[in-house]
Amino acid sequence: MTDRELFQLAARALDNAYAPYSHFQVGACLLSKDGRTFSGCNIENASYGAAICAERCAVSCAVSQGVREFEAIAVAGRESFAWPCGICRQTLNEFAPELKVICGNASTGEYTVATLPQLLPRAFGPKDLAGRD
Ligand code: THU
Repeated sequence: MTDRELFQLAARALDNAYAPYSHFQVGACLLSKDGRTFSGCNIENASYGAAICAERCAVSCAVSQGVREFEAIAVAGRESFAWPCGICRQTLNEFAPELKVICGNASTGEYTVATLPQLLPRAFGPKDLAGRD
């Protein structure tokens, strides 16, 4: 799966975004180490704090199907870039601290590739709690 193909899947996931409050639609697609893809979109709520971002929707989809090892995620905004928010960076770090992050604008097709360590330096994660059980 190429970066462009994964980004196109994220852009397709935009069609299911439910964003009646922000009108900021986001699609995501997570690529697992075994080559499967898991899409997600943002899902807002009348109780604003109950909203879930596209990235965490995709992670929930994969993990709930027993998949926990990931290679890359693509994130597409409808008309602009949508870099993962802080909570999503932390959620991604839980499962894939070395994740590739492909982020872009679905309407132009432009995207940039980064790594999770670039987006979340000095992360706190499972390694910091190892050996406490
Ligand atoms: N959002 C995402 O789904 N992912 C991002 O990368 C950034 C923000 C959503 C959350 C909310 O539904 C809307 O975009 C505006 O913040």
